[in-house]
Amino acid sequence: PLLTRRNLLKASAVAGAYGLGIGAANRFGIASETVDPIELVAHTTQASLTDQGPTRDIMTYGDGGMPPTLRMVRGKPFAANLVNRLDEPTTIHWHGLRIPNRMDGVPFLTQPYVYTEDTYSYEFTPPDAGTFWYHPHCNTLTQMGHGMTGVIVVENPDDPMFDAEITLNLRDWRLGGDGQFIAMFKPRDAARSGTFGTVRTANWKREPQYDAPAGGLVRVRIAATDVTRIYSLKLEGAAAEVIAIDGNPVPSRFALDVLMIGPGQRLDLAVRMPDAEGAVVRLEDVRASSVQTVASFRAIGASLKREMGDLAPLPANPVAEPDLASAKEVPFILSATAEDAAKDSFCGSLGYSFWAINRVPWPGDTADPTAPLAELKLGRSYIFDLENPTPRTHPIHLHGMSFKVISSSARPVMPLVTDTYLILPDEKVKLALVADNPGDWVFHCHIIEHQKTGMTGYVRVV
Ligand code: C2O
Ligand code: CU
Repeated sequence: PLLTRRNLLKASAVAGAYGLGIGAANRFGIASETVDPIELVAHTTQASLTDQGPTRDIMTYGDGGMPPTLRMVRGKPFAANLVNRLDEPTTIHWHGLRIPNRMDGVPFLTQPYVYTEDTYSYEFTPPDAGTFWYHPHCNTLTQMGHGMTGVIVVENPDDPMFDAEITLNLRDWRLGGDGQFIAMFKPRDAARSGTFGTVRTANWKREPQYDAPAGGLVRVRIAATDVTRIYSLKLEGAAAEVIAIDGNPVPSRFALDVLMIGPGQRLDLAVRMPDAEGAVVRLEDVRASSVQTVASFRAIGASLKREMGDLAPLPANPVAEPDLASAKEVPFILSATAEDAAKDSFCGSLGYSFWAINRVPWPGDTADPTAPLAELKLGRSYIFDLENPTPRTHPIHLHGMSFKVISSSARPVMPLVTDTYLILPDEKVKLALVADNPGDWVFHCHIIEHQKTGMTGYVRVV
């Protein structure tokens, strides 16, 4: 996960080698860029996560171990063949990427299941640079809980150069004392904040430490891919500035104090490493009753003596600016439901209905989706009026489009452009967007137990 400047150049060269050749002329006689697909093999394996020997029933993509961090380039085509070697159906959702609906990876809504031994080809061009991630959208509590959460880095050649880059995939595991999986959830916790993991990791390691150049500027890309945990992240031992949230550069960067990051969210930091060789910088989660080290960075070599002020701002992503004057308001109420039976679903219904959007519980990924929560006209601006009358915090996530945070009843907000908003208990928030991507787009809480016990719906853009 540590990329030095030299390795970064190498990584881009590799991306070039399997990415971006110029293909033959297409049938219209226009030369088009083609791309050699990478292969993502979904399979079951074992991995070393605790001192108790290997954990069985790990699910992952790639060679075994953590799913590979996929590097893409903004504006350049990317292709991947998903090969399903699990003994259940799966799909891939590219979380945060504004790509065509048929590439979105939601069974029934956007594509069929990919059954065991079947292959599915994904091909798209990421329009935005930043830190994103990928995961299945099928039996998600199990598949994600057992390992299938990987990070995506979309590079922008115009991004400022850092001296190093460290990518952190933060997640937990529900393991018993013997290091093997235990039940993925408890119904009474699903009806509350969700069921927490028992073993915390970053990049599938407990409190890993990475070397970084002393006095250097390091880009730390953090993806919270856990199914439940909300982090309150803090950096001890170095100055850090928040440069992007959920892939999108913040309007103006600011010093990291403590920032809450929920399931599905990403945080990009610029960290100025200490000058003294051997000094250790700690990324901590201070939300827990006891402070937890997530990962640490150790300064190596003679100080590069860089200054945070040297860093050029990240270029903004090309997200359309909503027209607030003409925007139509659409209400969404996130609520708890009575305990009636959720619709059955092959794709991982948990069998309970605890939550709802606009009073309708839906676990998602079912063959008979409910009606869309709203129909949006292509190209028009909307304000989502979101209300959370529950006593829980919900990271509410929209597929396919990014929205801008306009105002909150609970706190001052920055005009962040994002795909996930962490809505607090009793908070009301206004999120604005241009409905510029046609299709059916899922809108759900990213605490997966909330999603799968009803807090899921979709909007239709036509
Ligand atoms: Cu990470 Cu439906 O999404
Ligand atoms: Cu929730």
